[in-house]
Amino acid sequence: MTPDRRLVPTGGLTNAREFVGKARYDDCMSMVLAGRNLVLIGFMGSGKSSVGRELAKRWNFRFLDTDAMIRHKYDLSIPEIFAKHGENFFREAEYQALVRLRGITSTIIATGGGIVTQPRNLPLLRALGPVIWLSADQTTILDRVGKSAHRPMLNQANPEESVTRLLKERVPLYHQAADLRIETSELTHREVADRIVSGLDQFRASNDPKNQPRMDANEAE
Ligand code: S3P
Repeated sequence: MTPDRRLVPTGGLTNAREFVGKARYDDCMSMVLAGRNLVLIGFMGSGKSSVGRELAKRWNFRFLDTDAMIRHKYDLSIPEIFAKHGENFFREAEYQALVRLRGITSTIIATGGGIVTQPRNLPLLRALGPVIWLSADQTTILDRVGKSAHRPMLNQANPEESVTRLLKERVPLYHQAADLRIETSELTHREVADRIVSGLDQFRASNDPKNQPRMDANEAE
C-alpha cells in the first residue's frame, strides 16, 4: 500500500443505513463523479457483480465487468478460454481489459477474483478510482461458489482445498490493492452497497489533506 492510500476498516459500522442520509449519499456521488470510477475486487463469490450492478443503478453509472469484456472479445465463456488457451492467456486478457479501461469515467468496474495476482494490474486499478475489496469468510465463499461449474480456478473434486489455498495466497494481495474493505458474509447486496457509500465517505475524509497532521503544527511542539 502506498503511504497516501489508507485502508479504512469498516467493521465498526454496525448499521450502515443509519449513516447513509441523502446528503451524505450525494456527497459520495460527487466525489466519485469527479471524473472517477469505482473498482470492486474480491474473491469469487464475494458479490462484486451483484453489488456493482446495484451501485450502478443507484448512481446512474455504467457497469462493466472485466470477465464480460474478455468473454465478448473472444466470444468464448471463461471456462472455454481456460480450457482452450490456459490460465496465462486469460491473465494476459485480464490485463489487456484493464488497459482498455484507461480513461473511462462514471463506471462501476467489477473484476475477476484473480485480478490482484498480477502486480502490473495494481496501478491500472488504482488509476481508475477507489478500490473496494469485498471480503467474505471461507464458509460463505464455499456456500456461494463451492458447486459452481463455471469457475475454472475451483477444483471441483475438492473445492474446499482450492478455496483455502487461493484465499491464503490472495488475501494479502487484496489487502495491498484496496482502499476500503467491506466484509460481506452477513450482508445482503443492498447492505454492502450502503456500506460502500458510508465507507467512501470515511475514505474521502481520511485522505483529505485538511485532516492530515500539518508539518508546521508538529514542528511547533
Ligand atoms: C477467477 C475468478 C473469476 C474469473 C476466472 C478466474 C479467479 O471471476 O475471472 O474464472 O482466478 O479467481 P469471479 O471472481 O467473478 O468469479
